[in-house]
Amino acid sequence: MLRVSILTILAVLSVSFTVSHSARILGLFTSHSKSHLIVHMNTIRPMIERGHDVTIVTTIPVKEPNLKFRHIKLKQPDMDRSGIAQDTKGLFKTMQLMMKVSTNLLHLTNLTINDPEMQKLMREESFDLVVMGYFFNDFLIGVAGHFKCPLIINWMGSPTQHLGKLVGNPPEISYVPSLLSGLQQPMGFFDRVISYVFSAVELGLFSYVNYRMDQYYSYNFPPDKYPSYEDMKKNVSLLFVNTYLSQGYIQPNVPTIIQIGGIQIKPKPDPLPQDIKEFIDSAAETGVIYFCLGSNIGADFLTPDFINIIFKVLSGVKQNVIWKWDKDELPGESPNILYKKWLPQDDILAHPNLKLFITHAGGGGVAEAQYHGVPMVAIPFFADQFSNANKLQKAGHGIVVDKGTLTEDLFRKAVLEVLENTTYTDSVKTFSRIFRDRPLSARDTAAYWMEYVLRHKGAKHLQSPAIHMNAIQYYGLDVIAFLIGVAYVVCKESVAHTIPDGEEKALIRRIDNTVLQNITRRSDLPTNAERVMQAICGTREKVSAFT
Ligand SMILES: *[C@@H]1O[C@H](CO)[C@@H](O)[C@H](O)[C@H]1NC(C)=O
Ligand SMILES: *[C@@H]1O[C@H](CO)[C@@H](O)[C@H](O)[C@H]1NC(C)=O
Ligand SMILES: *[C@@H]1O[C@H](CO)[C@@H](O)[C@H](O)[C@H]1NC(C)=O
Ligand SMILES: *[C@@H]1O[C@H](CO)[C@@H](O)[C@H](O)[C@H]1NC(C)=O
Repeated sequence: MLRVSILTILAVLSVSFTVSHSARILGLFTSHSKSHLIVHMNTIRPMIERGHDVTIVTTIPVKEPNLKFRHIKLKQPDMDRSGIAQDTKGLFKTMQLMMKVSTNLLHLTNLTINDPEMQKLMREESFDLVVMGYFFNDFLIGVAGHFKCPLIINWMGSPTQHLGKLVGNPPEISYVPSLLSGLQQPMGFFDRVISYVFSAVELGLFSYVNYRMDQYYSYNFPPDKYPSYEDMKKNVSLLFVNTYLSQGYIQPNVPTIIQIGGIQIKPKPDPLPQDIKEFIDSAAETGVIYFCLGSNIGADFLTPDFINIIFKVLSGVKQNVIWKWDKDELPGESPNILYKKWLPQDDILAHPNLKLFITHAGGGGVAEAQYHGVPMVAIPFFADQFSNANKLQKAGHGIVVDKGTLTEDLFRKAVLEVLENTTYTDSVKTFSRIFRDRPLSARDTAAYWMEYVLRHKGAKHLQSPAIHMNAIQYYGLDVIAFLIGVAYVVCKESVAHTIPDGEEKALIRRIDNTVLQNITRRSDLPTNAERVMQAICGTREKVSAFT
């Protein structure tokens, strides 16, 4: 009897122990992009593996058969994808596209949060932590306000000016270029001019986006029941960024920015599907080229000319080629090319036979190649891809080719150069060693900080005071104005008291007599101005130069 009750007590204790240590976490991953979802899922994965009670809301399917979590799949609204594959090089075109994309995404996010299933979740449940996948959906921060719990924002790249502002990170425009500018560190004079222009335009764009966000926020989180949008923005606990030290721009980060670069990369690759494994293993001598333009740039976005160039070059190399191709109609048949609609990219890049990755330079793919030490030929299409591509070229991890002016010759030259000149492989392998060298793996880092926020109910104690300052205070304009005022008054007073009468007379005597008469007769202002000038310049000579 005693034994039974002790067992019962133990059982009850162990249950309450697990309950108190297993938090209810909501992963709000409503972006329509697969590559974003991969980053978000891998951020939350360690929390699922550690036994927390995780609910994930997405608009696209999740393929994670081995993970135990609750998945709420909302309806996927139609996305206007036109423009994505447009040529968007240059400031104006990039901004135009960003504007279009953001308007579209705001609308989609509004549909998502008004989805009956999402509304039901908000009505009936409670959570200890919200992790929000960020992509032009700022007003979803209201969800954390609704559950009155801490919020962590998860972002797929290095911190943008806009996101940095949310956690009070300093925008160091002179040496940290905007992500969209394509500029590299260090920046010369004209680079810095461009950096400032980009920053100003980005600021303008995001002010507009912010204004729209506020409208959507107020509709979904009405002011009579919820804190204001501006107040909610000041209550973000942490910002997770998918960059790690040397991988991103070198820049200062406030303590609430947590670097989990490479989170999407598996610590250990999964076994490859049999046919792919055989195809790669069979090319131990010559090596393998992996060609993939990501999930957004499908075959339909490519011109026949472009496809033809790629096919002609890749069917002519001695390496085996794995080509991600999402249409039934193939670019052409060749014994060295294996087409697949879907490929386990990370596991393929991890294979030692991989000699070259031809990529659109999306942040995720570039990081995977760098992690596994595979050199690249980059063909950027839009947004941050230009900047990623320039960066990897500058780091010596590969070569960038321009999609607009690409010819068969240029493409072949680039491919052969990276395959045959070992400097690219050497430098990307060096980078790989540095990138992997950390105190805690990306996934353990993410888990540590999520549990930290749970333990301390937020991270208010780490928050930068800059969040609560307006621009005048932040840039110290009020202080500068105040100090100039003080300096003026002090100078005026001290000069009035320190210049002896005789000296002043001597000084004035040098001035042409008629002018002097004019001055003394009309007002004493010019002589005062001279005093200040003298106090500032300190030398008589300069004063006389003015008189
Ligand atoms: C958001 O969606 C709701 C419901 O579909 C709609 O009534 C509302 O007007 C939308 N809000 C804005 C700002 O468009
Ligand atoms: C290899 O590439 C590097 C960097 O572009 C270049 O400096 C070097 O001359 C190349 N070597 C050969 C053998 O082409
Ligand atoms: C701000 O965040 C804390 C946790 O970090 C949370 O407890 C609080 O409810 C939030 N405040 C608002 C107004 O949402
Ligand atoms: C004196 O002041 C008058 C009135 O402003 C002006 O017309 C005249 O040119 C001045 N004389 C000299 C020598 O500056």
